[in-house]
Amino acid sequence: MLKPIYPVHVIGSSNADLVLQVDRMPKLGETVLGNSFSIVSGGKGANQAVAAAKAGGKVRFASSIGADAFGDLLISSLAQQEVNCDLVSTCEGMPTGVATVQVNREGDNQIVVVPGANMALSPDQVDKALRNTPAGTVVLLQLEVPINVVAHAAHKAAGNGCFVILDPAPIPAEGVPNELFRGVSLVTPNRSETESITGVDPVDESSARQAAQVLLDLGAKNVIITLGAMGSVLVNESEFKLIEPCPVSAIDTTAAGDCFNGALAAEISRGCSLASSAQFAARAAEIAVSRLGAQSSLPTYEEIMSRVGDTECPTYGRG
Ligand code: RIB
Repeated sequence: MLKPIYPVHVIGSSNADLVLQVDRMPKLGETVLGNSFSIVSGGKGANQAVAAAKAGGKVRFASSIGADAFGDLLISSLAQQEVNCDLVSTCEGMPTGVATVQVNREGDNQIVVVPGANMALSPDQVDKALRNTPAGTVVLLQLEVPINVVAHAAHKAAGNGCFVILDPAPIPAEGVPNELFRGVSLVTPNRSETESITGVDPVDESSARQAAQVLLDLGAKNVIITLGAMGSVLVNESEFKLIEPCPVSAIDTTAAGDCFNGALAAEISRGCSLASSAQFAARAAEIAVSRLGAQSSLPTYEEIMSRVGDTECPTYGRG
């Protein structure tokens, strides 16, 4: 394995996922019987931290959990994957974040998050996380914690010369402030997030270019739009690259985006090019959707590399 040159710092949420498998989603006002129930570790931040660690990154995670059994469950999953949890703080008086995740037969999900202690993540914790970070550190952010904290982290990390990846998920009810994208090294929206931020639905190459240009104009340096079964596109001022998908049968799409972002961060931290990192991340996310659960579905470096080798998609060089 190529050795990480830089650390990966993930700043974000931790949730306990209450996962229900159903044949189909209930309609409004309807009750359906489900097939199984489990409680697993999740949260976009924690999932991305674990994804990056399993993909070979040297990961530190800053988050906020409650003093309860769900918090203990999350810490033990992170520790098992050798994620440094020094900056995961326990917040007295607030419960650990919880998400109900309903997964249907097609592998699609519906998720409701009650953030709890995630809302207690503070700028002070971010300052601690970013103290003495070497330039080049990969800092990975999402939007399941207070947006002012994400903005503070993005601004401070960019100022320190870090490579800042912003996964704009989930989109807050009040939308994402345009200033958040200024100076961000890479923004990684999926199709619906792209449409809500830019007003352009990326359905083909031309609309994807147009949407990405809006994000570049807002100050992001690079954009990767993930389009599920259509693959993804990497766009900056000088290039447009299509990352082709390699078909997989989906069991559960939960955490596919988190897997993509974590694996992407790990590969970037090894000094690989953005195009080849996006390709590595795409193969990782394909493995994740073929398995059940959030963190339980995330592949190891070896599994990802074996899929990179097996698929017949054209590959970009790793340098
Ligand atoms: O992206 C998947 C995650 O979203 C789940 O693990 C859930 O906790 C929510 O944060």
